[in-house]
Amino acid sequence: MFTLETEKPVDYWEVEALYDLCFAPGREALSSYRLRDDVSPVRDLCLVVRDHDRILAGAIRYWPVRIGTARALLLGPVAVHPTHQGEGLGALLMRDSLERAAALGWERVILVGDAPYYSRFGFTKLTAVEMPPPTNPERVLGLELRPGAWEDVAGKVMRDA
Ligand SMILES: CC(C)(COP(=O)(O)OP(=O)(O)OC[C@H]1O[C@@H](n2cnc3c(N)ncnc32)[C@H](O)[C@@H]1OP(=O)(O)O)[C@@H](O)C(=O)NCCC(=O)NCCS
Repeated sequence: MFTLETEKPVDYWEVEALYDLCFAPGREALSSYRLRDDVSPVRDLCLVVRDHDRILAGAIRYWPVRIGTARALLLGPVAVHPTHQGEGLGALLMRDSLERAAALGWERVILVGDAPYYSRFGFTKLTAVEMPPPTNPERVLGLELRPGAWEDVAGKVMRDA
């Protein structure tokens, strides 16, 4: 039995510890983190999953970014505790947060990640959009929450400051 909730300030360090466990050391040196520096996350879309003992099993966070005048959501990090991977919690976090994002009027989502995982949620490679270097362009993926939302969007992804 799992519960899905929005992340509260009190959850912050527990989520950080989960990300440290799930990602390689130095994750915060990744260029995508420069888009998050000094910017508040989109609180309504940052979710945690807890098990029946209230132990954290997974988390997802989102940040606002801009490409020219177009606003987008930067998805991630998303992680599931190794003892719960493969149980569908990653998909639950992805699907629930993306539904909430659409309901809140967000039109487009970008992330840096493995296409074989994210394609199941509708993400495809974005060719006209540039993440801060060094980012492997093959890993820059986008999703339209409104049909055509990425069509005329091109250029560098910037912090929403
Ligand atoms: C990626 C992650 C969030 C997925 O969460 P999860 O709860 O294990 O995922 P689900 O149970 O919803 O889905 C499992 C499926 O995803 C696949 N999968 C997991 N990570 C994958 C990856 N990087 N590339 C391709 N497929 C992947 C699994 O093989 C499994 O496939 P199946 O459905 O065919 O059996 C989780 O494995 C994780 O935290 N990994 C470490 C952190 C990380 O790498 N996060 C970002 C990924 S770019």
